Amino acid sequence: MLILGIETSCDDTSAAVVEDGIRVCSSVATNQDAFHAKYGGIVPEIASRQHVALLSAAIEDAAQRASVSLDGIDGIAVTRGPGLIGSLVVGVASAKALAFALHKPLYGINHLHGHIFATFLDRDGDVPHYPLLTLLVSGGHSQLVEVESATEMHVIGRTTDDAAGEAFDKSARLLGLPFPGGPEIDKLAREGNPQAIKFPRHRAEPGSLDMSFSGIKTAVRYFIESDEGKKASKADIAASFQTAVVDVLMQRLAMAFERKPYTSVVLSGGVAANSALQHALRDWGKRTNVPVFIPPPKYCTDNAAMIGAAAAHQGEAVRVDPLTLSADPNLPFEL
Ligand code: KG4
Ligand code: ZN
Repeated sequence: MLILGIETSCDDTSAAVVEDGIRVCSSVATNQDAFHAKYGGIVPEIASRQHVALLSAAIEDAAQRASVSLDGIDGIAVTRGPGLIGSLVVGVASAKALAFALHKPLYGINHLHGHIFATFLDRDGDVPHYPLLTLLVSGGHSQLVEVESATEMHVIGRTTDDAAGEAFDKSARLLGLPFPGGPEIDKLAREGNPQAIKFPRHRAEPGSLDMSFSGIKTAVRYFIESDEGKKASKADIAASFQTAVVDVLMQRLAMAFERKPYTSVVLSGGVAANSALQHALRDWGKRTNVPVFIPPPKYCTDNAAMIGAAAAHQGEAVRVDPLTLSADPNLPFEL
């Protein structure tokens, strides 16, 4: 089954063709880095106008690279939320028009579910098994999710303030690094000492898997403004900050696993591309003998292949009428 995936929830304009929810035939993405450099972050109005300008070409490109005509596609999948409303409506309107005109089934996908199914892409059969535990860490979300099946998922822990990616982006800005700051901190941290500065780690409340990252971010700000901070190397600050975030994430993940064993552990969302987090999770997997799965970096961050994959895995549960589908910036996580 060939699915055309469309993803425009934030600032990446993406289209992809995915076969049977596991093989990527093509994946096209254009980012808006030029605007990030100019404005220091995402401007929702600009992001949505860019989607209008770029999406049709991205869809045609994805079909061409997969050597398939749009008529040869079996279904169309689109992110319906959560995300920026002005961005989401561009993808949703295009998908509805295509599904209606081509008489193809339409699938309305939750962006966060897409991140989870990114883990099934291009793995040559070596895929995670249910029930799985996923640490879903992106620019807008940080949560631990128990995935019983493709359509039954429960959030068992979440951030109570900033998302991990947001903490990376804000701390990077304090260090004078460009947006998005996560990959910049990741790169700079390789030259630094992760033990140089002891940033605070949020401790879990009894019985809770919730986490917090605003304290670490504030501590980075105070440190940079202090006399000691003015003399410290940026690489040491980046490495110490990154270690503090990874410690909190790994501690909650280990706690969740102690409560209940899962068949596999999956890392998902943009922050899953972080090399220190990947290293810590692989290490934990070796020590505990639990199979861990991490998508390649291009499928960790926002992409349309993961949206096509989600449609194939979730099937009828997410099939929607092209005439009634609407974007929902606050789409609830559970189906
Ligand atoms: O999933 P994503 O592409 O978009 C959202 O749905 O939010 O995640 C974007 C986030 C940004 O905060 C970005 O800084 C972060 O993922 N990110 C990283 C890395 N690559 C992307 N954070 C840490 N290390 C990375 N290598
Ligand atoms: Zn995302």
